[in-house]
Amino acid sequence: MAVVFTLAFVLAAGFLHTVDCEDNGLGLFPPLGWNSWCTWASCGQKGASGKMHDVCNETEIRSVAEAMLSNGMHALGYEYINLDDCWGSEERAADGSIQADKNRFPSGIKNLTDWLHSKGLKFGLYTSAGVTTCSSGERPKPIPGSYGHYEQDAQTFADWGVDYVKIDWCNTKVNGTELDYEKVHTEFSKGLNATGRPIFLGLCRGYPYPPPDYTRQVANAWRVNGDHHDEWSKTAEIIELMAPKEIADFAGPGGWNDPDFLMTGGAGCDEAASTHCPGMTDTEYVTEFTIWAITASNLLVSTDIRNLTDIMKTILLNEEVVAVHQDKLRKAGYRVGTWHCSDGSAHCQLWARPLNGGAYAVALYNADSESHDITFEFDLIGWSGEATVRDLWAKKDLGVKSGEFSMKVPSHGSVFLKLTKPT
Ligand SMILES: *[C@@H]1O[C@H](CO)[C@@H](O)[C@H](O)[C@H]1NC(C)=O
Ligand SMILES: *[C@@H]1O[C@H](CO)[C@@H](O)[C@H](O)[C@H]1NC(C)=O
Ligand SMILES: *[C@@H]1O[C@H](CO)[C@@H](O)[C@H](O)[C@H]1NC(C)=O
Ligand SMILES: *[C@@H]1O[C@H](CO)[C@@H](O)[C@H](O)[C@H]1NC(C)=O
Ligand SMILES: *[C@@H]1O[C@H](CO)[C@@H](O)[C@H](O)[C@H]1NC(C)=O
Repeated sequence: MAVVFTLAFVLAAGFLHTVDCEDNGLGLFPPLGWNSWCTWASCGQKGASGKMHDVCNETEIRSVAEAMLSNGMHALGYEYINLDDCWGSEERAADGSIQADKNRFPSGIKNLTDWLHSKGLKFGLYTSAGVTTCSSGERPKPIPGSYGHYEQDAQTFADWGVDYVKIDWCNTKVNGTELDYEKVHTEFSKGLNATGRPIFLGLCRGYPYPPPDYTRQVANAWRVNGDHHDEWSKTAEIIELMAPKEIADFAGPGGWNDPDFLMTGGAGCDEAASTHCPGMTDTEYVTEFTIWAITASNLLVSTDIRNLTDIMKTILLNEEVVAVHQDKLRKAGYRVGTWHCSDGSAHCQLWARPLNGGAYAVALYNADSESHDITFEFDLIGWSGEATVRDLWAKKDLGVKSGEFSMKVPSHGSVFLKLTKPT
């Protein structure tokens, strides 16, 4: 089945995965959704006010889902409601099975999943490959990870109707020996497969950069970096890691690069103060989303979508930008060059992504601390002749251009363009 699909896609798009990819039938397009991690302060931690601030429970999750259904996000394709660390009970059941925290989820996970499915949404859960989860060190009592229970937990997730699993990499030293990430990820992936329920698998760390070949064979998404915090230095660092063509070429139907959650300028993690939201400027949030979209990355928003700020509306609900992210050709973009500042410095960048029907998405990104005119010469992306240029963030046609195009780009900002052949 995998072979047939791949060949069909080669004919349609001239694109081939470099390795046999995970073929559970999922991740045919990069996922769009929400994750609980940064909506509130991290699990089990006291915020600046001294209150336990994480309120990840069934009532809250339903209210987030209702917001996604009614605020325009679901209509644009956002569909995952994913819980990060903290949903789990501190104790496994007598038969060793993993359980939800009964105070947070008194109706049980299956009840929540059934309800989400009835609304047309999908549900994801978190686990750690290790003995305990990542936030366990900050809690009075740790939450068990899946170590020693990979097959059993996979079956429990399938029984609950889970659609997406993120497997984190914490507390993976067992009796003094670090677990072998390739063995562990392969075993967990096989455990999911054996349940018969197709479940999207997202790998979160363990392996080096660039992600080794096996990640694409066992999973539908793989982190390329450490955690993305809501601060510009982190975002800029991740953009660098996403830039090489080699990384873009990992992605395709069945599997996607994951630069971690997006913050998007929402209210959230307020009590975690300096390291969390909203920690960047609106201009920087636009760049964040531009790069995640042009690279066809896993796109999970991790701030509170129940009360969209103006910048969140502008970014998350721009249907033309989301359409680039979900483009039918499903070819990830990358950085073409870094030499186009008017002053000759290397901070101005050209990113490009081929789109269905011969169009191109192009991002002009200014990584410098001052604004610059960036000149984009069409032949750098192999484009000959004239192009109709549309500014996707401004939702404005800029007219038919020939050969090159210049635009002023603010510090840390991005202009996101779509080029089509003039009719
Ligand atoms: C399990 O793996 C096989 C072989 O790779 C694949 O054809 C099948 O679709 C997978 N099933 C699930 C439920 O993931
Ligand atoms: C969930 O959290 C909210 C807000 O803190 C609280 O009002 C509600 O009672 C909680 N519900 C459950 C089921 O724990
Ligand atoms: C799910 O839980 C809700 C609220 O606790 C309850 O009203 C409903 O009957 C439950 N549904 C199922 C299928 O158990
Ligand atoms: C570590 O080793 C001890 C002694 O062999 C064993 O009882 C224990 O279960 C091991 N711990 C883990 C997490 O495997
Ligand atoms: C929504 O956020 C705004 C500020 O962004 C705030 O003034 C308002 O109180 C919030 N509303 C709710 C219902 O949380």
